[in-house]
Amino acid sequence: MSIIEAKGIIKKYKVGQEIITALNGIDLTIEKGEFLAILGTSGSGKSTLLNMLSGLERPTKGDIVINGVRINKVNEKNMSKFRAKEMGFIFQQYNLIPSLTALENVMLPLTIQGYSKKTRVKLAKEILIKLGLSHRLHNRPTQMSGGQQQRVSIARSLVGNPKIIFADEPTGNLDSKTTIEILEFMQQIVREGSKTLIMVSHDLEVAQYADRIVHMRDGQIKEIEIVDQNREEQLHEQALAETPSAKEIAPKEETPKVNLTKNNNREENN
Ligand SMILES: Nc1ncnc2c1ncn2[C@@H]1O[C@H](COP(=O)(O)OP(=O)(O)O)[C@@H](O)[C@H]1O
Ligand SMILES: [Mg+2]
Repeated sequence: MSIIEAKGIIKKYKVGQEIITALNGIDLTIEKGEFLAILGTSGSGKSTLLNMLSGLERPTKGDIVINGVRINKVNEKNMSKFRAKEMGFIFQQYNLIPSLTALENVMLPLTIQGYSKKTRVKLAKEILIKLGLSHRLHNRPTQMSGGQQQRVSIARSLVGNPKIIFADEPTGNLDSKTTIEILEFMQQIVREGSKTLIMVSHDLEVAQYADRIVHMRDGQIKEIEIVDQNREEQLHEQALAETPSAKEIAPKEETPKVNLTKNNNREENN
């Protein structure tokens, strides 16, 4: 089963008397475990699309389906809960809290999820060490380089073990060497942790790290380019093999449509 589906997405903004069409009919299916890049020039609608896919903003028209659930029907409170539990976010400006240390910043999403302090410290430390920041645990953002700050923000996005990670121009403020380091790391976490990563970029070289590139222009998809053919085939096969009806529900039944929803509601309530 695909993890996110966008169907006929249109997004319009009203600015004064003017209507801006940021997205003009987007259809896109994203597989579980995929690293997808959304590539386009400034103003082409990349960030708007990312916000639609994560349920942060609602489309003017069309449907977003995440894990089999049509999110148009989900209320804002449940959507926030779902985002906090299942999604991680990485931004160009890192969005760290300046008064908190690296460790405290990374512990934050766990606080919202209600973990004990001991567990929060343990999990946050583990992930920061994995990102090569064992010597920066007690530094504040201003005491770290851009690359280090972005690694803290990646740690923060991963600490709650989300299924889907959204990154908007994550290397936009970094030099080329640090950019490569960060991209290689992101590639690795997707592959090792079978996470889904959706990354926005205006830079073709950055987008090349993804398995697939969605080329955008004027709020539309111009082309979908497969970068890693083997991996795309693998993900596709995996998606077919992993239908919940085959795995968890009565294996002989052939009603995946109904069961998909049931299964996903159950996962969500765990
Ligand atoms: N909240 C908003 N209000 C009004 N217009 C917006 C808003 N967000 C985006 N836009 C407009 O929608 C278009 C696409 O923007 P955006 O998705 O941010 O593009 P990108 O991320 O590719 O640079 C632009 O014309 C932008 O000005
Ligand atoms: Mg943008």
